[in-house]
Amino acid sequence: MAKALVLGGATGLLGQALTRILTERGWSVETLGRQQGNLLDDAFLGERLDAAQPDVIFNTVAWTQVDDAEDHVEDARLINRCLPASLACLLKSRESMFLVHYGTDFIFGGQGSHPLKEEDKPQPQSVYGRTKLEGEEAVRAALPDRSCVLRTAWLFGHGRRNFVEAILDACRRRDEINVVHDQVGSPSFADDVALYSAQLAEAWLEKKADSGVPGVWHVTNSGEASWCELACEAVQLTSSPCRVIPITSDEWPQKAKRPSYSALCTDKLAAFLGKQPRPWPQALRAYLFARKTMDSGK
Ligand SMILES: NC(=O)c1ccc[n+]([C@@H]2O[C@H](COP(=O)([O-])OP(=O)(O)OC[C@H]3O[C@@H](n4cnc5c(N)ncnc54)[C@H](OP(=O)(O)O)[C@@H]3O)[C@@H](O)[C@H]2O)c1
Repeated sequence: MAKALVLGGATGLLGQALTRILTERGWSVETLGRQQGNLLDDAFLGERLDAAQPDVIFNTVAWTQVDDAEDHVEDARLINRCLPASLACLLKSRESMFLVHYGTDFIFGGQGSHPLKEEDKPQPQSVYGRTKLEGEEAVRAALPDRSCVLRTAWLFGHGRRNFVEAILDACRRRDEINVVHDQVGSPSFADDVALYSAQLAEAWLEKKADSGVPGVWHVTNSGEASWCELACEAVQLTSSPCRVIPITSDEWPQKAKRPSYSALCTDKLAAFLGKQPRPWPQALRAYLFARKTMDSGK
């Protein structure tokens, strides 16, 4: 039985999805978070690695508050750069262990209009984007043959507040909501990202150096949308009477600059899976259906 250690696996949006999906696929899963100790303490982290003896470590821990990061640069850097860098260094001597680390579409500058490939040039516009880029670079430099960086984007899913939840909450309280239409990205269901992550990790365990898994991957649902299109789809699927009004980013000022276009190309993932990942509208429908079933079971 393969053993996973999921950092952020008890509380994070993606971490919880990974914990559930890896368990369903027969992995033995341990989670590690700040409840157990200080993840920035290398001695503590090393002890936990030695105690757990995982085959694969999934690091979902990150400073994900994009606007707050602008005012907490050093805190964001500690979590987004120093933690993955330390983890990768600790794994150098633990030769049986593989690291799956997560990156973001916000490392890109956002000027283009074609889905971004793994090799495209990053040009982060925010502290979050910069520190996340530093983190993925540190992992790749320290552990090039035993790590992969899975860049994901615009996550929605169970267990933690996210954009879709915020929209549906707002729709319960208001007759109309304003949503930005001039930022386009790759909406992604955390469960699907977790599933594709598990498949990549399993390919590594099966074939190791011949698996082609080490390196950078774009791991999202397929297709692209603006925040407004994503909101409209969620509102329509839940039969809410709320009106969604498109607005520009200038009409919704935010502290951190966001890319106007950061949809990720999933062709490399599609070649691995043998088909394109599930289109985001289908994934959104699956999420909203599961959410409704969970709510009615409460
Ligand atoms: N959400 C998105 O739309 C999105 C988009 C692109 C990329 N990503 C990337 O995907 C990965 C997972 O994101 P997510 O949305 O699942 O994140 P999330 O829900 O915000 O979870 C972040 C996790 O990091 C933990 N954490 C934060 N600061 C910590 C600290 N100082 N010490 C220990 N743990 C700490 C949190 O623990 P607590 O619960 O204890 O705070 C939580 O478990 C991240 O690498 C993120 O950059 C996410």
